[in-house]
Amino acid sequence: MNIKLSDSIDFIQSRAPMTPVIALVLGSGLGDFGSHLSNAVSVDTRDIPHYPISSVPGHAGKILFGTLELGGRTTAQLVVFQGRVHFYECNDLEKVIYPIRIARALGAKTLVVTNAAGGINRLFVPGDLMFIRDYINMTGENPLIGARHAVEKRVRPSFDSAMLAMAKRVALEHMIPTTEGVYCWTKGPTYESAAEIRMMAAAGADAVGMSTVPEVMAAAQLGMKTLGISCITNMATGISKEKLSHSEVTDTANMVKAHFTTLLTEILFALA
Ligand code: HPA
Repeated sequence: MNIKLSDSIDFIQSRAPMTPVIALVLGSGLGDFGSHLSNAVSVDTRDIPHYPISSVPGHAGKILFGTLELGGRTTAQLVVFQGRVHFYECNDLEKVIYPIRIARALGAKTLVVTNAAGGINRLFVPGDLMFIRDYINMTGENPLIGARHAVEKRVRPSFDSAMLAMAKRVALEHMIPTTEGVYCWTKGPTYESAAEIRMMAAAGADAVGMSTVPEVMAAAQLGMKTLGISCITNMATGISKEKLSHSEVTDTANMVKAHFTTLLTEILFALA
């Protein structure tokens, strides 16, 4: 462990002396999920030495430790990252993957990543929850450049197929409609052009967003198993001719919140 990371870990462990098993990254608009933790210990990321700070106003990052408890069931110990730093905020992938390094150093071997994404697949509608089967990296960037282990072992990052199968089973059992597809990572901060979305569709992308892929790459290097879930918050540029109204967006977000919470909760119980 390098000195910076061990500084961060020492600080976190002084505030939250827990050993998490599962790490959960909550994407844009999905941060509320953290409020369901029992006996949560919260650490403000601004207090953690060397921890990257999101530049998005009002986007104070928090790391929560705890379990979910429901009807006599308990999940494994969780470390929950509320909010993330995007590549477009810092132009530094080391910062983007720092939470994953933290999670692994604290003990987590399993990663569940969530995000908000634009729908490219024309069968999708806003509000869909998409399990990420695979990804396309459109950025030309890779957070593992210079990581000796990644070069020697030729790490092959991917989502864990057993976790994906389990998550689909859980969704079916609880009658939560989900889709599955390929997530395309762009740098942002701008949304895509219609021509770019057509190119991504031709390349096999079902959804597009500005996060997650570097985290999955880092997790693979660290030997973690990863599950990814995208919340389709809008249709990508040029896919839908209609402009979303504000009430539609709010309705969609609220509808998703209930489904998302149940789905994630049941997945975390199934992982315990
Ligand atoms: N494009 C890129 N990122 C996104 C989108 C989108 O349409 N929606 C949510 N995140």
